Amino acid sequence: MPEHSFTLFHTVALFAAYSFLGWLIEVVYRSISQRKFVNAGFLYGPFIPIYGMGAFCILALDFLLRDWPFIARTVFFGVALTLLEYIIGYLTEKIFDLRLWDYSKTRFNLHGRVSLPFSLGWMALAVIFLVFIHPAVSGYLFKYDYSQMRFFAVAFLVYFLTDFIFSVVSLEQFRRKIAYLYAEYFNLANIEVEKIFDSLRRLRSAFPDLNLYINDKIESKIKGGIGNFLKSVQDRVFLEIDGRKPFEEEFYESVADIYAHEEFERLKDYFHHNSSIYEHVREVAYLSYRLCKYLKLDYRSAARGALLHDYFFYDWRNHDEPHLHRNKNHGIEHPKIALANAKKSFALNKVEEDIIRKHMWPLTPVPPRYKEAFIVSFVDKYLASREFLDEFKKRINKKLPKKIKPRRKQRRRKSNAQPTH
Ligand SMILES: [Fe+2]
Ligand SMILES: [Fe+2]
Repeated sequence: MPEHSFTLFHTVALFAAYSFLGWLIEVVYRSISQRKFVNAGFLYGPFIPIYGMGAFCILALDFLLRDWPFIARTVFFGVALTLLEYIIGYLTEKIFDLRLWDYSKTRFNLHGRVSLPFSLGWMALAVIFLVFIHPAVSGYLFKYDYSQMRFFAVAFLVYFLTDFIFSVVSLEQFRRKIAYLYAEYFNLANIEVEKIFDSLRRLRSAFPDLNLYINDKIESKIKGGIGNFLKSVQDRVFLEIDGRKPFEEEFYESVADIYAHEEFERLKDYFHHNSSIYEHVREVAYLSYRLCKYLKLDYRSAARGALLHDYFFYDWRNHDEPHLHRNKNHGIEHPKIALANAKKSFALNKVEEDIIRKHMWPLTPVPPRYKEAFIVSFVDKYLASREFLDEFKKRINKKLPKKIKPRRKQRRRKSNAQPTH
C-alpha cells in the first residue's frame, strides 16, 4: 500500500485490530489457566485497549529508534511496555482502588504491578509483533479504501466509547461493592457476602488475581479490626492504671462545695445537648481540669469555672420562661445569666469569672483574658459538638430499620438451639 493513503481511519482500524488480538491472547491464556472460557479484560466487548496502546507504543519507538542496533531496540521495547503496564496498573489502583493483575507472587516483581518474566514475554511479543503481525495486519487492512475505512473506524469508535463508558461504570460499581464488603464484612450474613461475590463474577473470572486481592483485603480488615479492639482495650487499661482515681479525687475536692450546693443539683432537671446541663458541665469541667493540670495552669479555677459555665436554670430550647424576656438570644445571653447565678451562690475569683463570661467566645466578641478560659471554651465546643452528634446519631438510628443486627441475633439463636438435641 502506498504511504500517502495512510489515514487517521486506518490508525483507528489498527488500534481496533491490536486491541482485539490482545483480547485473543488474554482469552487463550486465561481460559487455559482456568480451564474454562473466560472473557478477559474489563470491557464487555472483545477488545483490550492496553494492547492497542502497547502496539502503538512499539510502532512509534520502532520508527524513532530505527538507527539503533536490533538488540538495543528490543530491550527498549521491553522497558517501554513494562513502564506502560506499571502506569496502567498504578492508575487503576489509584482511581478504582482495584488491583486488576498481581505479580506479587512472581519472582523479580515491582509492587506486584510488573515482573521480569512477564517483561521478557512482552519483549518477545514486541519482536513477533514487528516482524510478523504488523506487516500482515497492516497489509490486510490497507487493501480497503478510504470510505470503507472511514465507515469501519466511525462504527468502531462509537461502539468502543459506549462499551468503555458502561465498563467504567461497572468497574466503579464493582469497586463500591468491594468497599462495602470491607466495611460491612462483620455485619453481613454469609448469604449476603455470597450474593455480592456472585454479582462480581465476570470481573472476578476476567481478573483472577482479584480473588486473592479481595481475600487479602478482608483478612487484613479482620486483623485490623481485632488490632484496633485490642488497642482500645489497652488504652482503657492504661488510662485506669495511669491513675484516673487520684485525679478524680483531686478534681472532686476542688469542686466539692459546688457539688454540695442544692441549687447545683437542679441542673439535672434541664436537658442540654444529649443529656442534662449537670452531665454536660461535669464533662467539660473534668476535661478542662485534666488539660490545665497537664499544661501546668490554674486547674482548680478551670474546674470550678467550667462547672459553673452553664449555670442557668431553664431549657434553652424553650425561651418562653415567664421570668426571661422573650426572643432572648440564648447563645449570647446565657453566659451573663450563668455568671449572675453563680455569683449569688459562690465566691468566684477572676479566672472563674472570665471562664463563665467568655466561654461562648467568639460568639460573644470579647476574647478570654486567661489561658484557662480559652481551654474551657475549646473543651465546651468540642464536647458540645460530640454530644450533638451522639444525639443526632441516636435519632437517625431510631428512624432506620435495623436490618443487620437482628439477623445476626437470629443466626446466633439458631446456632445456639442446635446442640440441645
Ligand atoms: Fe454554654
Ligand atoms: Fe456548655
